[in-house]
Amino acid sequence: MRLKDKIALVTGGARGIGFAVAKAFVAEGAIPVIADVNAAGAKDAVEKLGRGLALGVDVADAASVNAMVAAIVDAYGRVDILVNNAGVGGNTPFLDIGVEEWNRTISINLTGAFLVAQACAREMAKAGGGKIINIASLSGQRGGHGRGAYGAAKAGLELLTKVMAVELAEHNINVNNIAPGAIETEMAKFAHDGPTRAAYNYLIPMTRYGTPEEIADAAVFLASDESRYVHGHTLNVDGGFRAAGLMFRGGKSAPSA
Ligand SMILES: NC(=O)c1ccc[n+]([C@@H]2O[C@H](COP(=O)([O-])OP(=O)(O)OC[C@H]3O[C@@H](n4cnc5c(N)ncnc54)[C@H](O)[C@@H]3O)[C@@H](O)[C@H]2O)c1
Repeated sequence: MRLKDKIALVTGGARGIGFAVAKAFVAEGAIPVIADVNAAGAKDAVEKLGRGLALGVDVADAASVNAMVAAIVDAYGRVDILVNNAGVGGNTPFLDIGVEEWNRTISINLTGAFLVAQACAREMAKAGGGKIINIASLSGQRGGHGRGAYGAAKAGLELLTKVMAVELAEHNINVNNIAPGAIETEMAKFAHDGPTRAAYNYLIPMTRYGTPEEIADAAVFLASDESRYVHGHTLNVDGGFRAAGLMFRGGKSAPSA
């Protein structure tokens, strides 16, 4: 019960990593708020979790974000934990990406995270503190094919986390990132074709995709008091993908689909 009665907002929590995080938080005693552009999915998620509040939100829209935070404060009086998880994928090659796709990706994955974090941090500052966990990505650390907009947004989020950590420390708000590697979710099913999967499995020392539950375990640590002196940090949860250099595995030299 490391998060007993903590009010924990998880954006994009209707499915995937966000839902797994909310489930793990509930197991630790938290009261989840699932806020998602898929409002019906958020409602289903709260029903499955057995407690909490479901809200529809578009994180890229400031008015929608403000209404979401007002509804949480109305219901519970505060926000203790934010997991800034809502996001969209994207795989368009650099030469083909249009400004519309670029703007949409940045507005949800970076501007959206900023809007939600700022609105929650203002409430946390008033209440005397809180925990913010931004869900960044390996794609924000390494140049991946087709990751121009997505990677740029996630790299921006990683830097924003550092600035937030610096400025929000005095308000007792603890801010960190989780950078997932390849995690088996609907987003990965959409974005990763057969050859991409084979390449990931070859390049990841643990030779497999991660699970949403493995991200959730890291989020519980960063949401709990046990991480109180971890601040402005990016915790990669990636099966060693970031750490790896050249690998020889029994003569296997190239991925095959
Ligand atoms: N799956 C991976 O391999 C992976 C790897 C690295 C990082 N991530 C990041 O983890 C987070 C969750 O990814 P996932 O794989 O669970 O994705 P997912 O597509 O399964 O879930 C994303 C959720 O966000 C919601 N959402 C999308 N746009 C929104 C908006 N504008 N406002 C509110 N909610 C919105 C969706 O409705 C959905 O419920 C994302 O930020 C993603 O970039 C995922």
